[in-house]
Amino acid sequence: MNLPTEVRYRPYTDWTDGEKTKIKENVGKSPWRASYHIEPETGLLNDPNGFSYFNGKFQLFYQSWPFGAAHGLKQWVHTESEDLVHFTETGVKLLPDHENDSHGAYSGSAYQIGDKLFIFYTGNVRDENWIRDPRQIGAWMDKNYKIKKIDKVLIKKPTDVTEHFRDPQIFDYKGQFYAIIGAQNHNKQGFIKFYKAVDNDVENWVEVGDLDFGGTGSEYMIECPNIVFVDGKPVLLYCPQGLDKAELDYNNIYPNTYKIFQDFDPEKAALVGGTPIINLDYGFEAYATQGFNTPDGRALIVSWIGLPDVDYPTDKYDYQGAMSLVKELSIKDGKLYQYPVEAITSLRTRQEDFSEKTATTNTYELELNFQANTQTELVLFADQEGNGLSLTVDTAKGKVILDRSKAGEQYATDFGTSRECTLDAGQAATANIFVDNSIVEIFFNKGEKVFTSRVFPSAEQTGIKVASGNVSGHYFDLKY
Ligand code: FRU
Repeated sequence: MNLPTEVRYRPYTDWTDGEKTKIKENVGKSPWRASYHIEPETGLLNDPNGFSYFNGKFQLFYQSWPFGAAHGLKQWVHTESEDLVHFTETGVKLLPDHENDSHGAYSGSAYQIGDKLFIFYTGNVRDENWIRDPRQIGAWMDKNYKIKKIDKVLIKKPTDVTEHFRDPQIFDYKGQFYAIIGAQNHNKQGFIKFYKAVDNDVENWVEVGDLDFGGTGSEYMIECPNIVFVDGKPVLLYCPQGLDKAELDYNNIYPNTYKIFQDFDPEKAALVGGTPIINLDYGFEAYATQGFNTPDGRALIVSWIGLPDVDYPTDKYDYQGAMSLVKELSIKDGKLYQYPVEAITSLRTRQEDFSEKTATTNTYELELNFQANTQTELVLFADQEGNGLSLTVDTAKGKVILDRSKAGEQYATDFGTSRECTLDAGQAATANIFVDNSIVEIFFNKGEKVFTSRVFPSAEQTGIKVASGNVSGHYFDLKY
């Protein structure tokens, strides 16, 4: 939603209790609130931030502007979880209250160091002429979740980047801390800066160089770069805005992509032996994906189910955006798989054989089997006429199409109303489909291909229909 700058950058302390209550009441009128996904209590949620393990729990913050469905003065909102499925919002926030983050506490990462959590993020600062000076800054969170900001700027804007320099990710490689930061050069090309913590002191960073990951610079900016190690291989996850479609076919306003590498050479600032660039997700929205390696070596990711510069049907209820399920990464036959963590099955309350339904609660999981060389069209959120979210799975051709043109309220139609991906032709396939009122996450072959999407059904769209073909499997009611 477009709101004037004065509204979006109004100091938090100026908002009255009456105004805040009104916003909350408006959110309460939405027919589309999710039940087992993180959504903002009010206002806008965007990137996952500070995803980490600390104090015996998983920590996950998110970018937020709490006063409406717009990108305003950003803060971080904190949640914690023991099982990566049930998250509790604690009320702890990283506020834009310092001279180094006066115009927003932008995205970043976190890592436990000693008995504290080190938070590494971008302070968005603008001067009186609205010229931006991005500052990479830090904070320490203690075990009582009290946050203390570090006063000095940890990494200043280098001379070879424009005002677009943000989203530091700290990671540990063989006991040494490194950081990567998304950047734009003066030719308006996206790239990634690579830093090393001097003597492993995270308050003291030195530039190693520009990260060599085989980028072409066809994008104008790289947001939210992350390196995670999956089954021993470095994987770079990143959001190359404006990427040339000749380089990678994508339909969303901005893509979220990855490359798998054979090796990492920090001395040379190089990721070595990379695959071509690949879409991380084939759905209508998944962005700013953040990953980290857990102390026990797993690679976990979580995505923003939303996109920058897109208006959503929930905007009229003063909120926007959700977090995806937490997914674990693995590599099989050279391919990256992403699938919800094991504990997701704890949401299953009742199970039955899959069949058509006229009415559901729209909070369920389907686990489906598609035979080889068959064509099936399934309609989720189906109404009496059979209109809803259409999913066509053609295992003969190895093609999947997700079409939301008849599923409730339409938006972002300039970017098309269907999405597709390929599977191996002539092979049977499985799909696990997680439906949560206005969110759908579909995992083919246990995470080989993923579609993450919003859909805003009308009140009558609660059914499941098999429009053609044949499919078997299970239906599970899910309860948070
Ligand atoms: C990505 C992003 C980041 C930035 C943040 C601001 O969605 O633009 O690059 O740090 O959002 O909220």
